[in-house]
Amino acid sequence: MKTKPGYLIVGNWKMNKGPAEAKALTADIVRAVGDTRCTVAICPSFISLAAVSGQLKDSPILLGAQNCAEKESGAYTGEVSPAMLKEVGVSYVILGHSERRQHYGEGDSLIAARLRGALGAGLLPILCIGESEQQREKNLTEQLLSAQLEGALSGLTAADIKNIAIAYEPVWAIGTGKTATTEQAEQACAYIREQLRLMFDDITADGTKILYGGSMNAENASALLSCQSINGGLIGGASLKSYDFAEIAAAASRLENGHAY
Ligand code: PGA
Repeated sequence: MKTKPGYLIVGNWKMNKGPAEAKALTADIVRAVGDTRCTVAICPSFISLAAVSGQLKDSPILLGAQNCAEKESGAYTGEVSPAMLKEVGVSYVILGHSERRQHYGEGDSLIAARLRGALGAGLLPILCIGESEQQREKNLTEQLLSAQLEGALSGLTAADIKNIAIAYEPVWAIGTGKTATTEQAEQACAYIREQLRLMFDDITADGTKILYGGSMNAENASALLSCQSINGGLIGGASLKSYDFAEIAAAASRLENGHAY
């Protein structure tokens, strides 16, 4: 088994679980995940962050948010600033999720601004990129991935990139039960790493965590996480089931440092 340290497993709860349910699910997840060798984070909705934060106090599991504003404060009705997220104990923030791009019109320049705001507040952004089914059919996957990377990351320094993870999430695989094959996932993630090499340098490219997301579950996690270019997972549906999510974290833990245990 190859050595590939530093797995990151992130649960994206999307618009599910208000504070009471979120607390109960967190308690279950903390119990099920137990001591983990990989980094694990869960991302509840804004309204449940404070409740979950309290619940995670003595646990190795970290807290993430599903978005953040690009501004520090002010007249931006409905938005939540990076500093507010920090205040409730958030470490990670998902940015540029395809559901935000698709349903809420978030484009590359807004995502780039949000990424900078998050970094400025000391949050760790997870930048989501990925092609639609149509783009894949038209062989536009790589073009799209590099455009999304450029759009969000150009102008940042290698030091900034150290704090950013990239999630490759083919839109056609999200919530559909239609997982990318290990070949498709590996090819796209390897391509993303090569783009980072071109945009930044070898150390940055090799040190960046690239996650796969899109119908990852307890059954397929091990195979996907074993791919050379994949350093973790962004998990939607399966992160709402404590047992399944813990199984995925356990698969990553087994691969961590190349030890099977
Ligand atoms: P899924 O969602 O695991 O339900 O496909 C992944 C995501 O949207 O981050």
